[in-house]
Amino acid sequence: MLIGGGETHKLIIGDNYPALLNLLISYKRKIKVIYIDPPYGKDHLGEFAKTNYDNAITRDNLLSMLYPRLMLAKQLLRDDGVIFCSIDDRNQAYVKCLFDEVFGERNFVASLIWQKKKGGSQDSEYFAKEHEYILCYQKLDWDINDITEEYRENDFNRIINGKKAKILKLEKWGNHSLRTDRPTLYYPIKDPNGNDFFPVAPNGADGCWRKKPQTLDDEHIFWQEDSKSRLTPYEVIYFDEMKGKEKIIKTRTLFTEYGTSTDSTKEILSIFNNQKVFDTPKPIELIKHLLKISTSPSIDTSEQDIILDFFAGSGTTGHAVMELNREDGGKRQFILVTNNEKTEINPNGIAYDVTSKRLKRVMTGSCYDGTDNFKWLEKNKPYGDGLEVTEIKQKSTDSQHIFNEIDEKLYNKDFKGNIHDKIDWICSEFEITCRKVESDEEYKKRNGWVADNEK
Ligand SMILES: C[S@@+](CC[C@H](N)C(=O)[O-])C[C@H]1O[C@@H](n2cnc3c(N)ncnc32)[C@H](O)[C@@H]1O
Repeated sequence: MLIGGGETHKLIIGDNYPALLNLLISYKRKIKVIYIDPPYGKDHLGEFAKTNYDNAITRDNLLSMLYPRLMLAKQLLRDDGVIFCSIDDRNQAYVKCLFDEVFGERNFVASLIWQKKKGGSQDSEYFAKEHEYILCYQKLDWDINDITEEYRENDFNRIINGKKAKILKLEKWGNHSLRTDRPTLYYPIKDPNGNDFFPVAPNGADGCWRKKPQTLDDEHIFWQEDSKSRLTPYEVIYFDEMKGKEKIIKTRTLFTEYGTSTDSTKEILSIFNNQKVFDTPKPIELIKHLLKISTSPSIDTSEQDIILDFFAGSGTTGHAVMELNREDGGKRQFILVTNNEKTEINPNGIAYDVTSKRLKRVMTGSCYDGTDNFKWLEKNKPYGDGLEVTEIKQKSTDSQHIFNEIDEKLYNKDFKGNIHDKIDWICSEFEITCRKVESDEEYKKRNGWVADNEK
């Protein structure tokens, strides 16, 4: 089935294990970013973690379900790729160990903290729970993108010369703060008493200036005692001078302003006209932020970044990819995989009742029945992108028609009636895909594993 036009993305319906095996045929080492939000498990006391679906699973099941999937996911990632995994407080430590095992501890980047609920859950037993985690691992050598941010009025917490301001020490600190590092930035300036003042490094040695003090007029220099009670010069930065300007910053590990669960609930409600169809979607802003720091717009389609989410749920990752493409003119492509879990509110399954409906609506501006009366359209324009929807089917290997049943066009192959070539391709690709997981060199080495045919 194909929906819409524009960039073409993919939605695969079915269990993500066979889906990942299939993706390995065409996408090995081609995925730039993987974001996953798996079902959270039970804790060790057997109490069910709150999930939005009926078959909440034990922690053992969660870890053993994730393990083989992460092994496949790792093979799909580009060397400069990155994987993000949302996880709650109860399971974070266990899932992190699993990630250390699969991706290697040296590839751990951060446990990001997402503020899920401002003010926290007042019905929590001990603390008012406010956060969840997002684990971040690189495949090998990921480069994070810096982001730009407007100066924030709250950071200007002083009043100097009657204006909101902040101050920064003029003596250099951190790296390259010694006189020998930057000899031309070591010289005296006059202190308020007319005495020579030389810069001192944090370790007490001769230091250097962060910027040339003589480039600043009196209004932009402020003398005050530092933590060692030395009268020291500071640069004064006034909010009025910075208002509306942007600065380049490193992303902080605390995510406090990229949407909350209240925002994501509203987002889904506006697409489904206030019908509650999915309990725990993630906010679009949150995923968009992860994509901003990890992908490029790739104007050239041949180099487009591909984003994979194999626990796609309501399809937020797809929605965020399209929104970011719209903002920066990018050509990112998404691949979503989600099973068709049936719940009371989704009798046809999440994939059909929620994921594909949400994507169809925001891509084309109309529902499957042709109507277009959903609230989201009041404030948003449809993205106009296309979606290929496929469903994973189990084929019995003893079927005589197995070779006919596999549609090679789904993998961009066309054997045009040459069944011998098709059989060769199926035997090599599908079998290799399965065997490669088992014969992964690292796995073999770690476990002393010997393949049947090597015994
Ligand atoms: C926590 S939800 C993801 C929510 C998603 N991030 C969003 O914003 O809507 C996890 C989803 O993964 C699906 N799922 C669970 N196990 C799966 C599996 N083995 N294969 C594919 N999907 C699965 C569940 O049906 C559920 O919809």
